[in-house]
Amino acid sequence: MASLNSIRTALNQVMDPDLHKSILELGMARDIRIEDGVVYFTLALTTMACPMRNQMQQDARERLLALEGVRDVQIAVREMTAQEKQLIFGAPQAGSAEASNYIKHVIAVASGKGGVGKSSVSVLLATNLRRHGYSVGVLDADITGPSIPKMLLSEFQHPRTNELGILPVETASGIKLMSINLLLEDPNQAVIWRGPLIAGAIKQFWGDVVWGELDYLIVDVPPGTSDASLTVMQSLPLNAVVLVTSPQSLSGMVVRKAASMAAQLNIPIAGIIENMSYAQCKCGERLEVFGPSHAAELAHDLDTQLLGQLPIDASIAALGDSGALETYRSEAFEALVSQLLASVL
Ligand SMILES: Nc1ncnc2c1ncn2[C@@H]1O[C@H](COP(=O)(O)OP(=O)(O)OP(=O)(O)O)[C@@H](O)[C@H]1O
Ligand SMILES: [Mg+2]
Repeated sequence: MASLNSIRTALNQVMDPDLHKSILELGMARDIRIEDGVVYFTLALTTMACPMRNQMQQDARERLLALEGVRDVQIAVREMTAQEKQLIFGAPQAGSAEASNYIKHVIAVASGKGGVGKSSVSVLLATNLRRHGYSVGVLDADITGPSIPKMLLSEFQHPRTNELGILPVETASGIKLMSINLLLEDPNQAVIWRGPLIAGAIKQFWGDVVWGELDYLIVDVPPGTSDASLTVMQSLPLNAVVLVTSPQSLSGMVVRKAASMAAQLNIPIAGIIENMSYAQCKCGERLEVFGPSHAAELAHDLDTQLLGQLPIDASIAALGDSGALETYRSEAFEALVSQLLASVL
């Protein structure tokens, strides 16, 4: 009969391919016991969407079955708690803004292609979640093309600071907002920074901003699969990413790249939103201005859901231009947010 020690030795050879350490060392193999030749243990993953989970389970199973007296292996899989994750990824410094923050869900909005309406969708997601009564923040991680403040604030405001860090600006409905634009002397000034500075700013927006307690933090990711978007996806503890696309096939193609980036970083895709999907004619007909939609097919290929299709609506542009986008209401968007809340979050 295999001893607990030999079982632990075997599990110490099962590596997490991403973190390059053994699942035992990482504290991912827990509650290990053997009964009647059956080894039981819990595999605690950093995310349930971990693409390596089958590989790690199979590796563990094979190594344990090779031990004398082991006839079966039963693995229960669960997600790590926030505290368990902190032991792996490191705890924030005491007395810092980060240590005082408590953010339940961090959701990135990404697209691949620019101009598909990612920032508008980020704002609309935030305002709808706020209307559901949640506490919500928006982190504008688009450092070189920040557009969130213009959409959400009718008047420019500079953030204040306290002993912990930078206080986000609050919108009329109480959404907390941080953007590089709020920190510039002149909001029309261009930010011509290179990669490392941009990465530093994004990390500061996480670590040095006093978000406090939030149910949702929506992150507007810079367009494309550039360095800056990679930094956002890598350095913020994202729970999910929402992909925004438009009906043009080019947009579909690049959103696949954004999806593949998310998959490589083990970030679950909560779904796809097709923006500017159609124009609603007064006669009631849907006009496919940018051609037929490929959104359902795209969602299927990426093994995710189509959260919704949004029409071209001139009031999105008009309200966005005047800093009043949080007053925009549409049934299509409300349905989409309900689906997002019901299915994944
Ligand atoms: N459904 C819509 N109907 C009409 N106009 C829209 C719609 N969605 C977005 N827009 C407008 O299209 C323009 C681009 O939108 P937005 O800035 O949200 O895109 P983006 O993907 O964030 O762009 P960028 O890549 O530059 O950051 C804006 O003027 C916005 O008001
Ligand atoms: Mg944008």
